[in-house]
Amino acid sequence: MQPVLNYLEKNKQRFLQDLCDYVKFPSISAQPKHKKDLEKCAKWVAAHCKKIGLDATLVPTAGNPVVVAKTPRTKGSKKPHFMVYGHYDVQPPEPLELWKTPPFEPRIEGRSLFARGASDNKGQNLAHLCAVEAYLKTGTELPCDLTFVIEGEEEVGSKHLGEFLKTHRAELKCDNVVVSDTGMPGKKYPALTYALRGIVAVEVIVEGPTRDLHSGIFGGTVENPAMALCQLLARLRDKNGKIAIPGFYDDVAPLSAYERKQFKRIPMSEREYQKFLGVPKLFGEKGYTAFEQRAARPTIEINGLTSGYQGDGSKTIVPAWARAKLTFRIVPNQDPLKIRSAVIKHLKKLCPDTVRLTAKTGHGGEPYLVSPKSDVAQAGLRALKRAFNAEPILMREGGSIPIVTSFKRILGADTLLLGLALPDDNAHSPNEKFDMDCFEGGMKMGAYLWQELAGGKR
Ligand code: BES
Ligand code: ZN
Repeated sequence: MQPVLNYLEKNKQRFLQDLCDYVKFPSISAQPKHKKDLEKCAKWVAAHCKKIGLDATLVPTAGNPVVVAKTPRTKGSKKPHFMVYGHYDVQPPEPLELWKTPPFEPRIEGRSLFARGASDNKGQNLAHLCAVEAYLKTGTELPCDLTFVIEGEEEVGSKHLGEFLKTHRAELKCDNVVVSDTGMPGKKYPALTYALRGIVAVEVIVEGPTRDLHSGIFGGTVENPAMALCQLLARLRDKNGKIAIPGFYDDVAPLSAYERKQFKRIPMSEREYQKFLGVPKLFGEKGYTAFEQRAARPTIEINGLTSGYQGDGSKTIVPAWARAKLTFRIVPNQDPLKIRSAVIKHLKKLCPDTVRLTAKTGHGGEPYLVSPKSDVAQAGLRALKRAFNAEPILMREGGSIPIVTSFKRILGADTLLLGLALPDDNAHSPNEKFDMDCFEGGMKMGAYLWQELAGGKR
């Protein structure tokens, strides 16, 4: 084990250089114009995997390619098999003017590397590759077989990965999946995440007149689609922060006393949280703390709202249409399909007959919850503790990784979520960064993890 740790220490600078190369690709899966960049990025990942000694291939899908990279196998191996999942696609970097330096030109400042994708998720999946590189290059025998699956559509809902898992079910069959794509509350607080929220995306379009109209000549005789949409959206949530859609809470699993106790261990006060986010006051569903709300309660969010004239000065029109992009975060045991139809049914019911409403369905993902008491979770906790020299905490997270429930359903494998992102990493925001302490700690965690997982019972 020591040669592995020495290798990690000795190659720190080069690993950082590798990460800089990785984040230069604008692999933005939401924007079709970047299709080629996603392919180039996938090729870079596959080439990197080969360079460090893995058997890597690029597997085409109906969407972006998946990188599959395996540790060299010995014939008839009886070793346990683990899969490491990550994603090379990133969120759109807009608004660009808020970045201190361009999002795909990595900048190092202190212990931080700034670039879109640095934390979510390139830095985190590269940390695992560095750990395995250290094993392979020092000739240290891995106690398990590993398969890396690094995909390019996580940020748009992993639409084609389920099909990929089914096609490759036999070779991907594994004891567990390991994912570093979540967070830790602070550098001294490594964390194991045992639950994620699911997601339901819906786009609402409200149409009125066939074209934008002069608001002086026609205003007052036709419904203004922007006004109709705003009034409709305002009725989806009550003033206490509860979602006002019939049946929405029917399947929500209550929080246990044990879990509520875990939430209290998060090393941040609500006042600090409020200051960190820069809001004058926190808002949220009554009866739950901010940390419970953000990880274990459902929400509705307007992610985008567009209508009418957005340019300089004013333009007096009744816009022809208005559009809102909505997402609902859902929790165990809510079903995305059931929630989606309840939402659409309610939107249609609320829409006045003076405008036409279309609801387009977007991506969806189920919530995830796994026992933090399993042997696998305990092995993960031990690896975190050894790598970060601190007692890890158990967390539920508010974000979504839609494919994890498919790992269970298709491969029969639970997922171990060992995140390396800090709360101020600015994931999905301007000036995303990844902390080098988390990067290096993550590599060590990766190195210890295989010993811990393969050593004990699973
Ligand atoms: N890394 C995140 C998920 C995440 C972030 C989980 C923080 C827990 C804590 C992932 O890349 C992500 O952003 N997923 C999307 C999925 C969606 C687009 C289908 C999300 O949660 O918005
Ligand atoms: Zn993300």
